[in-house]
Amino acid sequence: MASYALLAPRLLLLLGLGATFACGIHSAFGVENFNGNSRRGADLVKRYGCGGCHEIPGIANADGNVGPSLRRIATRTYIAGFIQNSPDNMTFWIEDPQKLLPGNAMPSSGISQDDARDITAFLYTLK
Ligand code: HEC
Repeated sequence: MASYALLAPRLLLLLGLGATFACGIHSAFGVENFNGNSRRGADLVKRYGCGGCHEIPGIANADGNVGPSLRRIATRTYIAGFIQNSPDNMTFWIEDPQKLLPGNAMPSSGISQDDARDITAFLYTLK
């Protein structure tokens, strides 16, 4: 009996770790070494007003037509027809599109790398 009492907290700890791990996998969307919070990303997309320029599935009133639709952006081969689409490149793009492709029509708006990663995690749910 005593050993059960000792074991229970450890089991709970293991279960807790398991849940954390599972969340990590979920938010990485199968992409190794990439972590982002897609729910927070969706909120950030609203806050930064990306929908003023882009049509974005799942975001209310995101029906802009200045830039391309972000429908199925996760499966698109190139970002802006130019940069290989990967989570890291997408993060760089959101962070500073003018640095990546100077002169393109998407403005850099001072988005932090953390925010850009979460936004990327959200964009990668659009398959
Ligand atoms: C002022 C308008 C504007 C805003 C605001 C804007 N974008 Fe863009 N975005 C563009 C334009 C224009 C392009 C096309 C650039 C090109 O192809 O050279 C683009 C391209 C992109 C692409 C690549 C799309 C593709 O099909 O290759 C992504 C992804 C993207 N934007 C995400 C975002 C996100 C996320 C935000 C908000 C943080 C945002 N954009 C805010 C105008 C905007």
